[in-house]
Amino acid sequence: MDLYEHQARQLFAEHGMAVPEAEVIDRAADAKEAAGRLGGRVVVKAQVKTGGRGKAGGVKIAADPAAAELTTRQILGMDIKGHTVRAVMLAQPVDIEAEFYVSYVLDRATGTFLAIASAEGGMEIEEVAATRPEAVARIPIDPVEGVTERKAAQIAAAAALPPEAAPVLQRLWQVLTREDALLVEVNPLVRTVDGRILALDGKVTLDDNAGFRQARWGAEAGDPHGDPLEAAAAAKGLNYVKLDGEVGIIGNGAGLVMSTLDVVAGCGARPANFLDIGGGASAGIMADGLSVILSDPAVKSVFVNVFGGITSCDAVAGGIVQALRSVRLTKPLVVRLDGNNAARGRAILDAHAHPLVEQATTMDGAARRAAQLADAA
Ligand SMILES: Nc1ncnc2c1ncn2[C@@H]1O[C@H](COP(=O)(O)OP(=O)(O)O)[C@@H](O)[C@H]1O
Ligand SMILES: [Mg+2]
Repeated sequence: MDLYEHQARQLFAEHGMAVPEAEVIDRAADAKEAAGRLGGRVVVKAQVKTGGRGKAGGVKIAADPAAAELTTRQILGMDIKGHTVRAVMLAQPVDIEAEFYVSYVLDRATGTFLAIASAEGGMEIEEVAATRPEAVARIPIDPVEGVTERKAAQIAAAAALPPEAAPVLQRLWQVLTREDALLVEVNPLVRTVDGRILALDGKVTLDDNAGFRQARWGAEAGDPHGDPLEAAAAAKGLNYVKLDGEVGIIGNGAGLVMSTLDVVAGCGARPANFLDIGGGASAGIMADGLSVILSDPAVKSVFVNVFGGITSCDAVAGGIVQALRSVRLTKPLVVRLDGNNAARGRAILDAHAHPLVEQATTMDGAARRAAQLADAA
């Protein structure tokens, strides 16, 4: 899970990194007072989980509290790369002498962490990395040793950062390790004209596997800024990803669901989602999955693809029948049951004889039928 800039800023501060004073607001009417508390002149910063806010007009300086209100009004509601701005952070402006780039990232290719740093940070870092890769230092970090004083000095020297930046590099490593992050990035880390080292912008990606240890960010789980169907599915604990098509898909096992997407696409239709209901496939999970998929207005038909393994098909069929009692089926459902106890499972569905439910014996046949039904709808 990615954190907002203001949350990253909070973590940086908690680990002893210097950050500008700031306040978060979600109403323009609150800007004047907040700016006043911060000294009058402020930087107004869109809080969205994407980079390049500065270039998109989402980071603006306001000379006084009245200007802060006006600028906040402009930035709230703005769309930045598909993200609507619902809050802004007002931050004290600092006089920048130099902007640096620093990040720690889990490098899956080498199986370790990597420090990436450059003395040429700021909004053009992608450009620098692309045209002059030699200006960006990449240094592997032993995850057990971490960023020691010596390591921090080494990173600073390799990236031509001022030596005063080294202690900040050690604190940033604490943020990564103690907060269960997979990525921490500061861009820009700046030296001010009066010689202080400050983190002006931060990105932190937490490891979702450590979510149980990071309960303080729990309210973010059903992220209101993300897709509402994905949020609803996440709240029900479903493994659901919204896609652009019209054939809703439910399967048991990620591999089966992946190949179901392929087979549906092969029939000329587009899958509306990825949904893996896992091994158990209880009636409750089936009902939750169906209700999420049926509430997607783009869905025209639903394909339930189950291969009975440890969970037998009759149990799954029983789950589907029970789910159909609690969820009102509004779109045609094609079910393919195969594997353990398939015949009994099919008999259970036949006996239920729901007018919108039909069965197919093969995955290809079921996908063709679901595509056809979606096309006809
Ligand atoms: N508190 C601040 N004081 C002065 N300048 C700032 C401040 N915060 C950001 N900036 C300037 O705005 C630029 C863009 O802001 P940043 O927070 O990095 O957003 P993004 O990376 O999304 O464009 C920074 O590179 C920096 O030059
Ligand atoms: Mg930035």
